[in-house]
Amino acid sequence: MNRRQLLQHTALATAAFAFSRDSFARMMYPADMDRYTADIIRLGSNENPHGPSPAARKAMMDTVADSNRYPWDMTAKLQEKLGAHFGLTAKHVIIGAGSSELLGVAATWAALKKGNAVAPDPTFRLWIPAASRLGIDIRMVPLDNKKVTDLQQLLDKADSGTRMIYVCNPANPTGTIVPAAQLREFIKRVPASCMILLDEAYTEFSSEPSMANMVDAHPNLVIAKTFSKAYGMAGARVGYALAHPDTIKELNSLQPWANAGASAVSLAGAIASIDDQKFVAYCVNENKKAKAILYAALEKAGMPYIPSSTSFVYFDTKPFGKDVRTLLESKNIFGTRIFEENTGWRRLSIGTVKEMEEVAKVLG
Ligand SMILES: Cc1ncc(COP(=O)(O)O)c(C=O)c1O
Repeated sequence: MNRRQLLQHTALATAAFAFSRDSFARMMYPADMDRYTADIIRLGSNENPHGPSPAARKAMMDTVADSNRYPWDMTAKLQEKLGAHFGLTAKHVIIGAGSSELLGVAATWAALKKGNAVAPDPTFRLWIPAASRLGIDIRMVPLDNKKVTDLQQLLDKADSGTRMIYVCNPANPTGTIVPAAQLREFIKRVPASCMILLDEAYTEFSSEPSMANMVDAHPNLVIAKTFSKAYGMAGARVGYALAHPDTIKELNSLQPWANAGASAVSLAGAIASIDDQKFVAYCVNENKKAKAILYAALEKAGMPYIPSSTSFVYFDTKPFGKDVRTLLESKNIFGTRIFEENTGWRRLSIGTVKEMEEVAKVLG
């Protein structure tokens, strides 16, 4: 496949996506692109370019032969380990095929109660279409003027009919973070009748702690987390949520088969990953180095950016003058995404140091 065919292929994939919300990754890449091109740089889905960890890879390979059995013991072990990791118990943990399954389950639970849900805009929207179809009214609240989640506005938008407030912290797509102290106060102020769905997909990349130690005192708090980002296992599809054991039971009742979404192989990888925190630290450190390269390139190119607490960066391409997406794609760098129409703001995932040097070269 030559470059022209490749770009045509991408354009077709982009058009197809408009009709297919379950294939959003193909917005950035043709599904079969990797088979034809080894030199594509993929920076669209905030994947970790280093994972899975060596320990996870070995555990996954060792477990292939056990795939004829249901992995109940492994599921229990993962719940046990995750509970302990956050100073909680196995009963505080629900397992899913990625955290997106659990965002969907939590939003469904809220939607079944009818009423409305409040969320920042822009944000991670994967859970919204299904919840809307179930009849819940989604109220979007703009970010503040620094593109940080505006907790006060979220509260102001809520009323007695609000069943859920979604907060992504650190935030996708802007990479901004609300400090722990503020988030804690917010959680305390939300009425017990309204679920707080807190998406902590990127917490490991930030210097702020998880809100896990608040779930016992606040049964309306559901914290969605994932092995897809810092642990580098997006393709393995393992996510989890932490909540009060009574809340976990409610969420389990909405899964076709409670805690059964992840395969034996993926569970083995997740279990081994938790014990390999050195690898997580390595990924976070590499991410910092690679991010610094992108920051320097954006400064040099005159593009304002928001310092990011995540594995992606949000920046304003307007002052650059050229179409950054076209420029990067012409050099096989894919994934620049827009989340705010009619603005120059774009998001780019952080790849390896080498990949970000490539981006810097192109922008230079
Ligand atoms: C904020 C946020 N939450 C959740 C997810 C879903 O992750 P997964 O389903 O792979 O666990 C993503 C993926 O990009 C994300 O950015």
